[in-house]
Amino acid sequence: MKLIHLTDLHIVAPGEALFTLDPAERLRRVIERINLDHSDAELCVITGDLTDKGLPAAYGLLRELLQELRVPYRLLVGNHDDRQNFVQAFPEQDRDERGFIQSVYDCAEGRLIFLDTLVQSHGYGALTDGRLEWLSARLAETPQPAAFLFAHHPLQSIGMPHFEPYDLLDRVAVANVLAASSQIRHIFCGHVHVDVSGSWLDVPFSASRGVAHQIVPDLVSRDAVFIKDAPAFDVALIQNGNVLLHRFRLGEREIIGGWPKNPVLEPVQ
Ligand SMILES: [Fe+2]
Repeated sequence: MKLIHLTDLHIVAPGEALFTLDPAERLRRVIERINLDHSDAELCVITGDLTDKGLPAAYGLLRELLQELRVPYRLLVGNHDDRQNFVQAFPEQDRDERGFIQSVYDCAEGRLIFLDTLVQSHGYGALTDGRLEWLSARLAETPQPAAFLFAHHPLQSIGMPHFEPYDLLDRVAVANVLAASSQIRHIFCGHVHVDVSGSWLDVPFSASRGVAHQIVPDLVSRDAVFIKDAPAFDVALIQNGNVLLHRFRLGEREIIGGWPKNPVLEPVQ
C-alpha cells in the first residue's frame, strides 16, 4: 500500500501571504509532484494546520487546490484550524458521533485511525471529551492486527523546548491507551515544522517539516526561528505491518547522471 503524508499547509485567504510565503503555491507544487510521481497512491492524509487562521476563504481555496490532486485525500485538523469552518468547507469528511474530525480507513494492510487533537483557540492539543475513548474503541474493534495512527500533535515530546507549551496535554492517558495495544505500527504526525522521527512506547513515529514554513530545530532555547526551506512530503510504503518511509523535498532538481546511462547505453568493455 502506498500512502502520501502531507502536513501543515497553513493556507491563507486568496491574495494574502504568510510571512513572505505563498502557501497555496507551495501546495500546488507538491500536488504537481505527487500527481507526476505518486498518483498510484491509495490515499493522501493531511495531518492538520490545513489553514493558518481557520478562515472560510482559506478553506475554500484549499478545496480548489485539492481538486487537482489525483489521489483520494483525508483531512485532519490542527491547532491553526477552525473545526466549524472546516466542516462547512468539507462536509463529506468523516466525523465521529461527537462531531470531532475522527474516522478510520480500513484497508488490506490494516486500519488507519485519524485523530482530532484540536483544542479550539489554543496551540496545545488534547484527546479529551471522549476522543481518547473513541480511539480505544476503534483499536478494540480492529479486525486486523495492524493499526496506523494519524494526529496533528505528536503524541510524545520531540525534545524542542519551543513546543512544550504546545504539546499534547493528556499524554499520560494517551500513553496508557497505546501501551494497552499491540496493534499500532506507526504514528504519523505534524505540528512541529521540522523533520523528526523516532519511537515512543516501542511505536515508531514520524513528522516532516511540512509544506509551508519551517522552524530551525533548536534543542535548547524556547525561541523559534521560522525559515523558508523546501516543502516536503512523505511517501509511506506499508506491507505486512512494516512501514517504509521516503521523504521528498521540493528543492531544485536536475538530473546530472544515472544508470543505465541515458539516452545512449554504452556497451560494457
Ligand atoms: Fe503548523
